[in-house]
Amino acid sequence: MRIIGPVWVYCMPKKSSATSRSARPSPRDLDIEIGFLEGVVRRDPEYLEALQVLGDDYTRRGKYADGLRVDEQLARLRPEDSLVHYNLACSYALTDHFDEAVAALDRALTLGYRDFKWLSKDPDLTKLREHPLFKKIRARVKALKVKRGENSLRASPLPIMNVTLRGRTRHYRTVTFAADKNAVVLVEQRLLPHQFQTVATRTYRETAAAIRDMVVRGAGAIGATAAYGLAQGARAFRGGNLKKFHAYVDQVTATLTAARPTAVDPVNAMCQVRQHMSAGATVGEQQALALAAAEEFANEDAAHCAAIGEHGAPLIAEGMNILTHCNAGWLAFVDVGSATAPMYAAQAQGRKFHVYCDETRPRSQGATLTAWELAQQGVSHQIIADNAAGFLMQRGEIDLVIVGSDRTLGRTGEVTNKIGTYTKAVLARRHGIPFFVAIPLSTIDWNLKSGADIPIEERNESEVLGAWGVNDAGRRQYVGVANPGSGARNPGFDVTPPELITGIITPVGIFKPKELWGRRKQLSGAHVKH
Ligand code: MRU
Repeated sequence: MRIIGPVWVYCMPKKSSATSRSARPSPRDLDIEIGFLEGVVRRDPEYLEALQVLGDDYTRRGKYADGLRVDEQLARLRPEDSLVHYNLACSYALTDHFDEAVAALDRALTLGYRDFKWLSKDPDLTKLREHPLFKKIRARVKALKVKRGENSLRASPLPIMNVTLRGRTRHYRTVTFAADKNAVVLVEQRLLPHQFQTVATRTYRETAAAIRDMVVRGAGAIGATAAYGLAQGARAFRGGNLKKFHAYVDQVTATLTAARPTAVDPVNAMCQVRQHMSAGATVGEQQALALAAAEEFANEDAAHCAAIGEHGAPLIAEGMNILTHCNAGWLAFVDVGSATAPMYAAQAQGRKFHVYCDETRPRSQGATLTAWELAQQGVSHQIIADNAAGFLMQRGEIDLVIVGSDRTLGRTGEVTNKIGTYTKAVLARRHGIPFFVAIPLSTIDWNLKSGADIPIEERNESEVLGAWGVNDAGRRQYVGVANPGSGARNPGFDVTPPELITGIITPVGIFKPKELWGRRKQLSGAHVKH
């Protein structure tokens, strides 16, 4: 049983202009409360309110390292909470971790922290305000003040994707970063739907391997992973020589780029991070900026998906049957998903519909991941064999198709997506069924001039010749399916031409594929508030 009385006596927002210190207990009372709360969180390390007050108490008693430990734990539990990140920044600043403090403050602003007045006088941030790195925060605050009231795009509050395991529901992001350990934290997608687990990669090489081996997969998710991997690599650099640092960062970028070739999101994400880094004058500043930019990319990915939901939801009418291919859900992004975003938004608006998930051989992302996600979200769905869609379309049992994309060419409107997408687009056209593609802006490639130039990943034939599953003992196991001795061809993606696509659902609106190029200014410069 939780005893919350003493917690609530002192429970108030930790760092805000509203905090009243006069109502605070004496040091002796504080020590008693600390002792009590330490016992509470030992028994329940995820007891948020207790952690919040304990962190505050530690800070008040000058136990800054202990306060930092608690704030880091809170940031892991509440990755979306701007106040939690603000408090974390204070603890970093009090323990002289200035680059981490700037990154946390930047994240707090990204997540909506707006008490600028308090930020400018909070005593916990005094040393940080004197540090050169703080100029980035000043610039950010200035820009945010200017932006207030501007007619920029606003996504609705993010639909938060929750995972329920053994009756307990918790929000997760597919990809996050643990700054204290310099680790990228990923949902281990290869184990789903049988097991839900997160893993941490400790070096940029491990992060690249996680992308290559599909621990994490899906365009937006590998984009965010590459962005964090780049920050992770940059932060591991020791020394102050900028020239050596840049050569090293080039190598980190190349390793992460090579991990998977078809999706353009990792390339765009790392470009964005490097652009932000270039504003730093020293290695230390660039390292801090790298993490802040990676966080920004991840938040933007989630915000873009939420905006896709807003624009796409009206396409889904009550009672519709929708087909989707592969997994373009929240597992394939940081949160929310692209093809699933209109579905989740329509669901939130109270409409009922049914989703057919293509199995998506050879790796079965539809049967394993999309079906699991939709089940978690309480969306009515069934898995169909990849070859069943034509039959269902012929019988009038599919009203709408929504898929994702790994690379959409801004110049031509061609859409690369998981192998089998093109087949579905041809079938949809044959039956007069609208075929939509949902993408965040990081999926647009503005450079390539032809779909024929897209690097299509050719994967190992073992994926076609067999399959992974779970045996009666609950152990994961690969079984051979095909004729032993036969070889296989395994292209991972295909390219759908623009004439088969009804519309591209972007965070900015729905456009014809051929319209993208004419709107390139709007689409490459659009900011979605988050
Ligand atoms: O090989 P994967 O699982 O990484 O495939 C990429 C995809 O997730 C799909 O092609 C998806 O439909 C694109 S949208 C993220």
